[in-house]
Amino acid sequence: MDETSIKEQVRESYARAARRVTGGKDGCCGTAAPCGNPITSNLYADSEQAGLPAEAVAASLGCGNPTALADLRPGETVLDLGSGGGIDVLLSARRVAPGGRAYGLDMTDEMLELARENQRKSGVGNVDFLKGEIENIPLPENSVDVIISNCVINLSGDKDRVLAEAFRVLRPGGRLAVSDVVVRGEVPREIRRSVELWIGCVAGALDESDYRAKLSRPGFKAIEIEPTRIYYAKDARKFFADANIELEKIAPLVDGKFMSAFIRARKPL
Ligand SMILES: C[S@@+](CC[C@H](N)C(=O)[O-])C[C@H]1O[C@@H](n2cnc3c(N)ncnc32)[C@H](O)[C@@H]1O
Repeated sequence: MDETSIKEQVRESYARAARRVTGGKDGCCGTAAPCGNPITSNLYADSEQAGLPAEAVAASLGCGNPTALADLRPGETVLDLGSGGGIDVLLSARRVAPGGRAYGLDMTDEMLELARENQRKSGVGNVDFLKGEIENIPLPENSVDVIISNCVINLSGDKDRVLAEAFRVLRPGGRLAVSDVVVRGEVPREIRRSVELWIGCVAGALDESDYRAKLSRPGFKAIEIEPTRIYYAKDARKFFADANIELEKIAPLVDGKFMSAFIRARKPL
């Protein structure tokens, strides 16, 4: 699949997810994700959810909670790559107030509409949702203190470009603090693709060492990759049954090799 087709597939899929939340006609649990999804469920504490519109929580499709793990200070500018329904932007905006600002960037109109409605309902003022692609960030260089992102970089067909753009817009000393799916160790190609389809990594998750190499390329330093949730074959039991793959055979090949991770890096001063 080329980059344009990947992007179109991703856009369509997230437009549908946004419509499920705004239309209130999801199949299950009032969320955009399948019920009990081990990747997207239970990411936010009750105290974080309190004070957010129900639709912002329902639209959460991340694989971590970057805002909770990132060090955010009043007065800072934060940018969320692939902001979806806006949950991490709204949480960050509170953390950088007073004086700070949180930008959400997303390419899907339906998600932007939902995020702006969630902002209106939450009454959080220091927020802007921008339309655009994470491969071409519509902000000037050296303008952002912290970049967050929640399970979006793995969707991009040009991760080098995304990380170069992130580096460009960060101020010297700026921090990258993102959640993403990462692969650790050898997984046979076909099985890897099946698991990625289940996880939703349309363009493929990066191997831990590739992630480090790609972050180093534009100049990021102090790179850390910390697992936050590790997935086991049993987590994908239903998927494997539907896909006619025998769980017992593939379990040893995938067990514990896919993880949600918190990835930190810094643009040097
Ligand atoms: C997995 S959802 C995550 C949304 C949000 N971060 C969250 O935690 O709920 C991915 C979001 O990223 C957006 N997205 C995916 N690829 C993108 C790209 N290349 N440029 C801009 N937005 C993108 C999608 O439209 C969707 O809203």
